[in-house]
Amino acid sequence: MPELHSHVLLVVAHPDPSSLTHHVAQDLQAVLKQWGTVETADLQREGFDPRWSPEDRLCYQGLGEVPADVVAEQHRLDRATDVVLVFPVYWWSMPALAKGWVDRVFINGWAFDYDLIDGLRPKLQQLTVHVVPVAASDAGLYERHEYEKAMRIQVEHGLVDFCGAARGAMTFVYDSEDPSEEIRAARGRAAVEEISAHFAARVAAAPCDRLVGKRFVAHIRSELQHLCLGKDASLTQP
Ligand SMILES: Cc1cc2nc3c(=O)[nH]c(=O)nc-3n(C[C@H](O)[C@H](O)[C@H](O)COP(=O)(O)O)c2cc1C
Repeated sequence: MPELHSHVLLVVAHPDPSSLTHHVAQDLQAVLKQWGTVETADLQREGFDPRWSPEDRLCYQGLGEVPADVVAEQHRLDRATDVVLVFPVYWWSMPALAKGWVDRVFINGWAFDYDLIDGLRPKLQQLTVHVVPVAASDAGLYERHEYEKAMRIQVEHGLVDFCGAARGAMTFVYDSEDPSEEIRAARGRAAVEEISAHFAARVAAAPCDRLVGKRFVAHIRSELQHLCLGKDASLTQP
């Protein structure tokens, strides 16, 4: 199976490594490796500060430099073809840790340019964004109250489209506090499979020149060698 030339930045925003959110992230890390490389940004463990600081404010006003910790996050995203955000749903939205990461990192001048003359110019065309919100409530409740729709509009249209990135998969893990470990694990597995299926579909749709699978290249090389050797061999035949 050819590999996709992907480099995934897996962003996890949860304080507890034993949480379902972290379990889903670990499974994603293992599964997504088949399509390329995966780098994990565990925001809590790394001590990322989600608070919008006076330096962020000065930078926003064009009066100061981009803070160093923000530049580091932008560099990780610059290296990535895909970002996968995994977080628990708090009040039908992202938790503060994930939201602050988005607020501070996806800024004017890097994620988009904006001025009164030219208007909005999105800049993240190279990036595909996937989102895995982990929610205690069930799918029916999200449907009835349009919470899923609201989150999709906010993230997919408000963030991904705004920055010119591509929409990847946004797949919810519902019933995250179900007493049955089996059900929780099944919900997590389904989300991991859905994200993985998105990568598989991209491989299937990608033209050959975008596939840089080592096995694919090795196969072509061996075919060429075979042809050349065959030719040489025929030349040495009496
Ligand atoms: C402050 C807070 C707010 C929450 N708000 C919601 C919510 O709006 N909708 C929801 O479905 N679950 C909500 N939950 C439940 C969490 O989503 C749930 O605890 C989490 O998904 C469990 O997974 P975990 O093991 O990864 O923490 C909330 C939990 C907390 C602590």
